[in-house]
Amino acid sequence: MKVLLADEYGFCFGVERAVEMVEEAVAAGDTVRSLGPLIHNDQEMQRLASQGVATVELPIQITRSETAVIRAHGVTPEVQRDLESRSSKVVDATCPFVTRVQRLAARAASEDRHVIVVGSPDHPEMIGVKGYAPDHAFIIKDESEVAGLPRLKRPLIVSQTTIKAQTFFDTAEAIKSKTDDEVEIVNTICSATRDRQDAARALAGEVDAFYVIGGNHSSNSRKLLSVCKEQCDKSFLIETADEIKEEDLAGVERVGVTAGASTPKWLIDQVVAKLEGINLPSH
Ligand code: F3S
Repeated sequence: MKVLLADEYGFCFGVERAVEMVEEAVAAGDTVRSLGPLIHNDQEMQRLASQGVATVELPIQITRSETAVIRAHGVTPEVQRDLESRSSKVVDATCPFVTRVQRLAARAASEDRHVIVVGSPDHPEMIGVKGYAPDHAFIIKDESEVAGLPRLKRPLIVSQTTIKAQTFFDTAEAIKSKTDDEVEIVNTICSATRDRQDAARALAGEVDAFYVIGGNHSSNSRKLLSVCKEQCDKSFLIETADEIKEEDLAGVERVGVTAGASTPKWLIDQVVAKLEGINLPSH
């Protein structure tokens, strides 16, 4: 049985960078506390926990001797200052793509312009971005919420990094009805999610079975599964190699593997090794 990996899979740039920054702090002997779960993968969180990395919900839970970590989603400037005042060391693992959105929002607010961010208002990334333009920003999910906006002053329109491009452009178009001023539209969508889906789609037509490695509750992993299923009936979402069932692989000659953006490489390696070790009866 041949095991084929999709061209793009697993940790996105921002998550990989955040985990590396945490590991560097651990290696330096720091007691590391992440504000909110560093990544949405139980196995990786357990691995980090075994190195003493713990998650806290509020800055107030961090003591002076501990190292505070800002995860890839970023935080508001207020929360950042709070962390800096409480902790002797703050590791800022905000993904640079998120930092870009924060800076754009801050710049527009400093010019007294409105900022419209297309995304989910309760997503941590959005809460952080809004903090950079507190009195100027509106977060709306899609074009259905445009009617609720006031008249806008020289608006800047940006996006949450993980939304669909079509949602962003349709919403941006609708927002133009809310102003007579010039509208600045900056597409700040990160391509990591789409790249993983495109690569899975490209491979799904060439294999007899497909394993997507990711959390059951992870929406990007479930989306990957549905992309694979469109072309490959035998597509499975698994969290670990233990969930591979040999009976599912009867008659399979080529098996595809991909993983969600929060799935660490060591888990992927375990799945590939297990699949490569399976000896199916020849037909
Ligand atoms: Fe950054 Fe994109 Fe990942 S914004 S955290 S690289 S999904």
